[in-house]
Amino acid sequence: MNDGSRVYLRPPTRADQVEFIALMRASRSFHRPWASAPTDPDRFTAYLSDARRADFEAMLVCRTVDSAIIGFFNLSHITRGLLQSAYLGYAVAKPHAAQGYMREGLELVLRHAFLNLRLHRVEANIQPGNTASIALARGAGFRREGFSPRYLKIGGRWRDHERWAILAEEWRDRPASRRLLEAAS
Ligand SMILES: CC(C)(COP(=O)(O)OP(=O)(O)OC[C@H]1O[C@@H](n2cnc3c(N)ncnc32)[C@H](O)[C@@H]1OP(=O)(O)O)[C@@H](O)C(=O)NCCC(=O)NCCS
Repeated sequence: MNDGSRVYLRPPTRADQVEFIALMRASRSFHRPWASAPTDPDRFTAYLSDARRADFEAMLVCRTVDSAIIGFFNLSHITRGLLQSAYLGYAVAKPHAAQGYMREGLELVLRHAFLNLRLHRVEANIQPGNTASIALARGAGFRREGFSPRYLKIGGRWRDHERWAILAEEWRDRPASRRLLEAAS
C-alpha cells in the first residue's frame, strides 16, 4: 500500500488473524483505557468486513525488515461530498511501542489520506491524559481544535476527548511534505 523506510502499510487479511489477535491480546492492558482493538476471531472478522467498506481504510503497520505487524491505523467514517474528511484511530502493539515506528507509519497514513484518498481533513480524538498519542498527533502536525466531554465510549465508559485535526493544506505546508512533493514533481 505505502512504503516508508522502517515500516510500510498494508490492508489486513484473514492470514493475519493469528498474529494480530496474539499481539492485541498481549497489548490489552497497554491499550486500556485509550483504545480497543480486536482480540478475538469474531472481532477480527468484523474488522476485516469494515476494511472492505468504502468509508473505512484499515492499515496494518508492518516492519520492513521482517514483515512483523507493529500496529494499525484506521481511517473511519470517510465522508465525501462537501466534507472530504475522516477519523483516525490507531494503536501500536506493546512490544513495539516507543520506537518511532508509529511516527513513521503516521507519515505514510497522512500521505495516503491526502494524496491518494484526496481527503481535506483528518481528525483524531484523544483522551486528555494520553500523552503518547498527543505527542504522536502533534508531531505530525495535528492541531488541537477543542474538547468534547463524554465523547466516545471506550471500554464501556463515555470518555472525554480532545479533537485533534490536520487539513490537507496544513499537511502540504509542513517541511517534510514539501520535500516529499518537490521530490515527486
Ligand atoms: C499512541 C501510540 C500509538 C504511540 O505509539 P509509539 O510507539 O509510542 O509511537 P512512536 O514511538 O512513533 O512515538 C511517537 C511520539 O510519541 C512520543 N511518546 C511515545 N511514548 C510516550 C510516552 N509514554 N509519553 C510521552 N510521549 C511519548 C514519542 O516520543 C514520539 O514523539 P516525538 O515524535 O516528538 O519524538 C501508543 O502509545 C499506543 O498504542 N497507545 C495505546 C493506544 C492509544 O492510545 N491509541 C490512540 C488512541 S487516541
